[in-house]
Amino acid sequence: MIALPPNSRVLADAEATARAAADHLLDIAGTATGERLAVCLSGGSTPKRLYQLLAGADYVGRVPWSRIHWFFGDDRVVPWDDASSNVRMVREAFGHEGPVPAGHFHFIPSDEGAEIGARAYQRTLQDFYGSDTFDPGRPLFDLVLLGLGSDGHTASLFPSKPALDEHEAWVVPVPEAGMEPYVPRISLTFPTLASSRSVLFLVNGTGKRDPLARLDAGEDLPAGRVVSRGVVTWFIDEAAAGA
Ligand code: 6PG
Repeated sequence: MIALPPNSRVLADAEATARAAADHLLDIAGTATGERLAVCLSGGSTPKRLYQLLAGADYVGRVPWSRIHWFFGDDRVVPWDDASSNVRMVREAFGHEGPVPAGHFHFIPSDEGAEIGARAYQRTLQDFYGSDTFDPGRPLFDLVLLGLGSDGHTASLFPSKPALDEHEAWVVPVPEAGMEPYVPRISLTFPTLASSRSVLFLVNGTGKRDPLARLDAGEDLPAGRVVSRGVVTWFIDEAAAGA
C-alpha cells in the first residue's frame, strides 16, 4: 500500500467514506461559532452519496440547515440542467432545494460564459465574506469539500494550466479543462480554498490509486497544493488506497 497523504483515513468503501464525511460535516458545524456557516461543495460524482445522506433520514434532522450556506468549488460552464452540471448533480442529490432554505444555495452562474461567471461568483463570495481581501484570522469557509481527479486535479485546477498560478483572483475562468468533460469551467483558486477552517478530500475507487501514488512519490499535483487554516483531511476507500 502506498503512503497516503497526512491526515488520511482509509474506509471500507464509498458508502463508508460518505458516512464519515457526513459525520465530519456535523462535527465542523458543531464546533462553528458563527451564526452562518459556509460549506464549499465539490463536484463530479464522488460526493453525490454524501449529499444524498445529508438530505436523507439518517442526517436531515441533525444538519443545521438554517445556518449553512452552500457554495461550489467549481462548475462546468453548461446549462444547469445539463447532465455534466454540478448544480444538477447537487440538486438531484439534495432533492432539489430539499431541506436547504431559499437563498442558501449559491450556484456558480454559467449562462454568460466563464469570464462573466467567474467575476460574478467572486462578487458573491466577497459579498458573503464582507470584504474583497482575506483576513487570515477569519476563514471564508468552515469546510471545503474536494475531490481528486485521476490526473491529480482538484476543483477545476488542472495540471499545467494557468489557474494554478492565480494568487489574486478568488475565482477564475478555466477556458480549457484538462479532463472530460472538455467544456470551459469556473473554479475557485488556491487562496480561496485555503481560506477555510478545514478541507476534506473524498477519494474513492481504483481509478484514484495512480494520483495517490504520484502524490506519494512527491509529484507536484494540484491536489497536493491545497492548504487550509485548519487541517486537510483525506477520506479514502480501500479500493483507492490499494488496501
Ligand atoms: C468537478 C470536480 C472535480 C472532481 C474530480 C473527481 O467539477 O469535476 O470538482 O474536481 O472532484 O474530477 O471527480 P469524480 O468524483 O467524478 O471522480
